[in-house]
Amino acid sequence: MGRILIVDDEPHMRRVLAVNLRQQRYVVEECAGVKEARQKILTEDFDVIITDQKMPDGQGLDVLTTAIEADPTVSVVVITAFATVELAVESMRQGAFDFITKPFQPEVVLAVVRRAMERTKLLRENELLKGTVVRLEGSSEILGESTAMRRVREMVSRVAPTAATVLITGETGTGKELVARAIHKCSPRASKPFMPVNCAAFTETLLESELFGHEKGAFTGADRARPGLFEAAHEGTLFLDEIAEMSPAAQANLLRVLTDGQVVRLGTTKPRKVDVRLLAATHRDLRRRVEEGLFREDLFYRLAVVPIAIPPLRERPEDIPALCDLFLNQVSLELKVPRRRLSPKALAKLQRYSFPGNVRELKNLIERASILSVADPISEESFPLPSPTEAARSDDHREAASWTDQMPEVDDLRTFMTWVEKEIIVRTLKSTGGAQAEAARRLGLSRSDLGYKLSKLGIRNVET
Ligand SMILES: Nc1ncnc2c1ncn2[C@@H]1O[C@H](COP(=O)(O)OP(=O)(O)OP(=O)(O)O)[C@@H](O)[C@H]1O
Ligand SMILES: [Mg+2]
Repeated sequence: MGRILIVDDEPHMRRVLAVNLRQQRYVVEECAGVKEARQKILTEDFDVIITDQKMPDGQGLDVLTTAIEADPTVSVVVITAFATVELAVESMRQGAFDFITKPFQPEVVLAVVRRAMERTKLLRENELLKGTVVRLEGSSEILGESTAMRRVREMVSRVAPTAATVLITGETGTGKELVARAIHKCSPRASKPFMPVNCAAFTETLLESELFGHEKGAFTGADRARPGLFEAAHEGTLFLDEIAEMSPAAQANLLRVLTDGQVVRLGTTKPRKVDVRLLAATHRDLRRRVEEGLFREDLFYRLAVVPIAIPPLRERPEDIPALCDLFLNQVSLELKVPRRRLSPKALAKLQRYSFPGNVRELKNLIERASILSVADPISEESFPLPSPTEAARSDDHREAASWTDQMPEVDDLRTFMTWVEKEIIVRTLKSTGGAQAEAARRLGLSRSDLGYKLSKLGIRNVET
């Protein structure tokens, strides 16, 4: 029979819970505070721990951390009278199994405890089998049954065995890095290093030294010689992400490496032979950058020997169900919670959404909803997505029509996304009459996340 520990400073609360649970023939122990609970957890074994959040000598979250540290398979249920989204998210992050708000019906607790017992049992069996609880790494499989994604997979398997340079294009979050990794994994170089480098993350000199290496004293701060990523990726694959952001000097240098198969570290003239396969990616229209004189044409043709274009998620909604399944599985394995399902309406809502952040955004939405939503299957309300119709409803017609007209002329996606984000937050705040708590709820953000965004985006005093 399962062993349960109840931690609560209110004797009446403990008694009610204990009586109910003993009736179900569980063995129940009680503690009146955090300190006492810690002691017990370290000396005795429990299957499920139910803890109050606010206690005079500490918090339920402290009990939770001690418990998980002592035994990662124990299932902890946090009870609170002051439920906030932050607290719910935080407890789930720290490994809580579930979260119950006061006042509650005893049946609710019993149902949660039954599931918690089941989970603990499964985890322990699993641990026996595997020796340790595994953390699932992001799957490297490219999912999607749309024609476009089938074609992407076919290209990957055709191009992987060759040495061809591949240019992967697609909006942010469409899976460019995933495709690059897949190409490497299916190539004869699979056992050698895969080195990703984000060209947008470095200043001009730093990027060059990162890629090609430098000798001691090559530039200020170069206090010792260092090989670059080309040398580090020898016999493997180098993935140049955000290639469009490369400076003209770095482009010239890169072209030289591609033509000669040799790198020259900054500050020297000595060439070193390297055998590296190059994969590149960008969210920009690289051909247009060439036309605008921002990217070298000769380099473009060398990079884009095989182009792979990944279409945005909104153009292939038929891929969404499989991706949701994948992410629901990942969340359940990572947070060690039962696998959730999506209601048909929730799925339909996701399939109608435009996903400016593509697959990554879908992944984030699923993770968030799995943590925050109590209902199973997860309902469509757990996905507070901005829809054009919603914007139209909350404002008068003229303004609604101008929603798209107002879009700034930018080709930089990040600037555009910031604009959209600001626009959505301002609109939501207007519709709540400036009430931030309600706006945060509608946006699926915590109060502090919203506060952070308001100051980051410079939104002040929203007029209603
Ligand atoms: N077809 C897919 N199947 C499974 N997972 C996917 C797929 N596409 C994207 N993902 C997942 O979505 C997330 C974002 O993908 P990735 O980082 O490869 O995108 P990206 O195009 O490189 O984005 P960015 O331009 O922002 O760098 C990753 O977690 C990736 O595993
Ligand atoms: Mg990427």
